[in-house]
Amino acid sequence: MKLLAIVGSLRKDSVNKKAMKAFQEELPAGSEVEYADISNIPLYNQDDQEKAFPASVNKLSEQVRNADAVVFATPEYNYSVPGVLKNALDWVSRVPNQPFNGKTAMILGASPGALGTARAQYHLRQIGVFLNINFLNRPEIMIGSAYGKFDDSGKLTDAPTREFLKKAGQALADALKKHK
Ligand code: FNR
Repeated sequence: MKLLAIVGSLRKDSVNKKAMKAFQEELPAGSEVEYADISNIPLYNQDDQEKAFPASVNKLSEQVRNADAVVFATPEYNYSVPGVLKNALDWVSRVPNQPFNGKTAMILGASPGALGTARAQYHLRQIGVFLNINFLNRPEIMIGSAYGKFDDSGKLTDAPTREFLKKAGQALADALKKHK
């Protein structure tokens, strides 16, 4: 399966980026992952959109279209999704023949707190209702107390989390097979 990874954190040392890498490592053989770059997407402004979609938005839209599924790894900012992620989704949502329509997707999230981005994930699912994203209901991948689960090189060292991610990757592959 061909996946597009969208990480909702722009920082270099992002624990969500590390979680996405660990998810990638545990995917079934033959899976491919491309990483979206949402760092260069300008702030949404309808005036700008009416002139032209930015190249960064057109690129992300094409990546979404070309992927079998999209995997989000997002932090929780103030009980919701980070603005950079919402901004990227707002832009793509205005592209004709809306790229996310009917797209299979999965969410994972990691945070130093106990809830592991639960509140942000439910907000992302709500946004996905309007975009008609087919989020897998299960598994819910919420990695709490995450800072202690990765080593200094950014590798996931927590065996139960790794096993959980492996099952999640398989669940995504199974869901895609079912929809084919
Ligand atoms: C946070 N953090 C946070 N954590 C949480 O569990 N619930 C929350 O509502 C918030 N809110 C929040 C807002 C802002 C602006 C920041 C910068 C941080 C902490 C957050 O989980 C932590 O910084 C993560 O490490 C961010 O994810 P990345 O960048 O490591 O992927």
